[in-house]
Amino acid sequence: MTKEWDICYFSDGGQMLTVLDQTLLPTEERYVGLRSADEVADAIARLVVRGAPLIGIAAAMGLCVAVTNGEDFEEAKHKIGASRPTAVNLSWALERMATVEAGLSGLTFESRIARLREEALRIKDEDAETCHKIGAYGRGLIKEGMGVLTHCNAGHLATGHYGTALAPIYAAAEEGKHFRVYADETRPLLQGARLTAYELERGGVDTTLICDNMAATLMAQGKIDIVFVGCDRVAANGDTANKIGTLGVAVLAKHFGVPFYVCGPQSTFDKRCKSGKEIVIEERRGEEITIMHYLKPMAPKGVKAYNPSFDVTPRELITGYITESGIIEI
Ligand code: MRU
Repeated sequence: MTKEWDICYFSDGGQMLTVLDQTLLPTEERYVGLRSADEVADAIARLVVRGAPLIGIAAAMGLCVAVTNGEDFEEAKHKIGASRPTAVNLSWALERMATVEAGLSGLTFESRIARLREEALRIKDEDAETCHKIGAYGRGLIKEGMGVLTHCNAGHLATGHYGTALAPIYAAAEEGKHFRVYADETRPLLQGARLTAYELERGGVDTTLICDNMAATLMAQGKIDIVFVGCDRVAANGDTANKIGTLGVAVLAKHFGVPFYVCGPQSTFDKRCKSGKEIVIEERRGEEITIMHYLKPMAPKGVKAYNPSFDVTPRELITGYITESGIIEI
């Protein structure tokens, strides 16, 4: 994983946030510029920028851009903060920026912007460091010849660098270990097919794409030895919200005796949230199931579609959490 692949950066003297448009992957690698809180919020809501840690990073950097271009801090923060509900990293990053902003009264506009930018970049750099630590702690769990399953995309494309669930995979591959990764396609938005398969192939990792409903068969065949997933919010009791389908993988892993690890930075752990019952699950439009990513509609016109974007895996199905502080087995 090269340090050079930067998918979220300031440009035009800090008046623009440039991000890789993930809705176009894997067929097109196009970068888009965002100049206002509305544009940043829209990019997060449409998953142009996505993945819990990267949402937090883009929110902090986008807030700087909005303020640089003359928007009110509080208004811009409110707009960006309302873009998606489940990943706690969004409010975590914005609150961290607000704490810095609160100490800046009396400074010139230039000094204030410089300090805000510094903090946003610190959030990004710290996340990259965190991901590398997750990789260093997690890589020992991957043994020669193993089959590794991952769901959704918790990789470089979802973080400041390297990824969370994909960090142990990159780190083990860099050590020269030979193993195979199975990527769930992750219906309905296909983050596994479009993003995980794309970045793992780009990183030279042996990757096999499967449909979500094939994981049970692969586990029954003994092809999966370990599961790594990311997280959008971990409640105080350990219940974990992540991409829809994660719960199903966890249930299967328990049934087949496969270790199931949740990987994420401590900024994704929400102590104020007591259990998974309190986590707000984003519900997205039904067309993501019925039409999007198909050449023509794949369901009868007007059919009701239910599209919860995340689910909650109860703590008892989780073998352990891998964070920047180490592996917490429970
Ligand atoms: O809807 P998305 O693509 O933002 O969902 C992403 C996930 O669920 C990831 O697994 C999670 O955010 C962790 S990313 C390191």
